[in-house]
Amino acid sequence: MSVDIRKMTVEDIPTVVALDKISFSLPWPERSFRFEVTANPASRCWVAEVDERIAGMIVAWLFVDEVHIATLATHPDFRRQGIARQLLLHVLNLAVQEGAVSSFLEVRAGNVAAQDMYHKFGYRESGRRPRYYKDNNEDAILMTLESLR
Ligand SMILES: CC(C)(COP(=O)(O)OP(=O)(O)OC[C@H]1O[C@@H](n2cnc3c(N)ncnc32)[C@H](O)[C@@H]1OP(=O)(O)O)[C@@H](O)C(=O)NCCC(=O)NCCS
Repeated sequence: MSVDIRKMTVEDIPTVVALDKISFSLPWPERSFRFEVTANPASRCWVAEVDERIAGMIVAWLFVDEVHIATLATHPDFRRQGIARQLLLHVLNLAVQEGAVSSFLEVRAGNVAAQDMYHKFGYRESGRRPRYYKDNNEDAILMTLESLR
């Protein structure tokens, strides 16, 4: 399977919004993706394409020397084929080139699939926000990758 990672464009937004909706119980509104793609200078937005179909997406924010993974999802048709791993690797590599030395993110306490992937990248639990997710009062786990270099 050949995976092409390219910058997210405004034209991608409807497909990305649909992917976000089937991936998260609290999806982002369309205007959030529009803001990230068109107006947020900190934002780095990428999609993974397989056979010209959007199979995954990632949004990260670069704040000086920290890269925050804002959202990451793979379409259910394409899961367990390394797409999220490739997207994350891509974003972290570019962030390092732009001066990032650490990375952090929030993940649902029950999302063991994502946590497993982040552990493999070297992220470690660095905190917890109790009842952070308003749909089911699930805790958020903060994960940090201290040394990207
Ligand atoms: C989490 C998610 C992004 C993984 O995407 P993916 O493209 O299927 O992941 P990959 O194939 O790149 O897998 C990378 C690693 O993640 C872990 N992983 C992924 N899916 C998993 C699952 N269902 N169960 C356990 N571990 C899993 C594994 O460690 C895997 O490595 P391995 O294949 O060597 O075992 C995807 O399941 C998804 O979109 N979920 C809904 C949205 C979400 O939770 N996003 C993360 C928010 S923090």
